[in-house]
Amino acid sequence: MTDSPSAERTLCIIKPDAIAHQFMEAINESIEAVGLRIVERKELTLTLEQAQAFYAVHKERPFYESLCRFMTSGPICVQLLEGKDAVRAYRKLMGDTNPEKAADNTLRKRFGHSIEANAVHGSDSPENATQEIAFFFAP
Ligand code: CMP
Repeated sequence: MTDSPSAERTLCIIKPDAIAHQFMEAINESIEAVGLRIVERKELTLTLEQAQAFYAVHKERPFYESLCRFMTSGPICVQLLEGKDAVRAYRKLMGDTNPEKAADNTLRKRFGHSIEANAVHGSDSPENATQEIAFFFAP
């Protein structure tokens, strides 16, 4: 159940680089500061098969293999976020995929190191959020 008719859900992944650098608490403080609630959380290490399936949309891209290896290189934290306009609000907080291009105060600017090790992932549309949430969380 959502907490209001306008509440939306999105998937957040705190990636292996950010977990290794112990940025999770600071990232979650920023998420809550923009009015999003963390309603579920799970820490896990992806298998290669899981990473390949999750990022299957990128399988023709040159960075696919490297991205999948990186995403299996250590624990991640997957979180279900909820709030008004959650997909867009969280993407704005994350910033550009490339930390070098991300605006000041965004998560990727503050905590990302490269376009691959960019600290966080977020769903890019409400439709994809539904699919990505179902990938990690039972209904
Ligand atoms: P994410 O939001 O997890 O979605 C797909 C990921 O692919 C993206 O963040 C980046 O980490 C990665 N990615 C996108 N473009 C590139 C690129 N040009 N080189 C390497 N990795 C990339």
